[in-house]
Amino acid sequence: ADLNLQEIHDALVSIAHEAGRMILSANPTDIDQGTKLNSVDIVTETDKAVEDLVSSKLRALYPTFAFMGEETYKPGNKIGPEPTFVVDPIDGTTNFVHGFPEACISLGLAVDRHPAVGIVYNPYQDKLYSAVRGRGAFQTVGQVWGLEGGRGRVSRLPLARNPAPLAGLDASLVAVEWGSSRDDANYELKTAVFKRLAAAKPQGGAMVHSLRSLGSAALNLCAVAAGQVDCYWEGGCWAWDVCAGWAILAEAGGIMASGNPGTWEPAIDERKYLAVRGAPSGQKELVQEFWGVIGEGRMD
Ligand code: IPD
Repeated sequence: ADLNLQEIHDALVSIAHEAGRMILSANPTDIDQGTKLNSVDIVTETDKAVEDLVSSKLRALYPTFAFMGEETYKPGNKIGPEPTFVVDPIDGTTNFVHGFPEACISLGLAVDRHPAVGIVYNPYQDKLYSAVRGRGAFQTVGQVWGLEGGRGRVSRLPLARNPAPLAGLDASLVAVEWGSSRDDANYELKTAVFKRLAAAKPQGGAMVHSLRSLGSAALNLCAVAAGQVDCYWEGGCWAWDVCAGWAILAEAGGIMASGNPGTWEPAIDERKYLAVRGAPSGQKELVQEFWGVIGEGRMD
């Protein structure tokens, strides 16, 4: 049967608001000591509680859909062609733990392994980004969810598909992340790329305007979608970090290429990504330029 993506979007928006209330009222210091990859790969009891809430609601509403969530993922789990909710209960857990107000709930739906619906909600700033494939991407600000009757001003603004042309990496604002995979080869490559991006060229030539790290892959993707940064490069993300943001990016006219040089169409679970904002021209050139900066190196 045909999927009603708009209805799914609306259900996800309401779940995101509920999850947001939970995040705001939680104690961010309850770090689960059995942390994941290493000491910087943090998970809290709130991550798990939010995922429980989201998965039980989604399973009740859409019992035939598959579900992949960060906290219940088991190595080897794959996203198949069937409709699959791809969920990060708190993207930016490190920010959540430190009280740095850039964390969000990231709710995506993949169909045929492509992002079809995306909701990214930052409860600290009450900022919601959303997209349905083929229907554009939006940013909703100022919604006062806590008040009965929804008082407060809400504005829902489309994310422009065609902002200014991209001149190239020089003079652009670039988002990057350290991520949690900082073992030898990944660490060396990330460090080298950050240095090359920031370096002044000989004879006072151009360099990137600056580097940014919001600490949340989903929020970085939304910043690219909104044209606030020009591109975002990271290796080590998971599908739940990117599915929702990718749907939003694509609907705002942005493109996602592989974070390793050479592949234009990364798989949803490729784990290395390079996102470039919407522009009337210069997107592919910017990807090529970035791949040139990476050079021969590749992330695992
Ligand atoms: C992480 C954040 C971080 C990024 C990592 C992600 P989490 O997600 O998005 O910014 O660098 O790659 O895994 O663990 O906070 O859900």
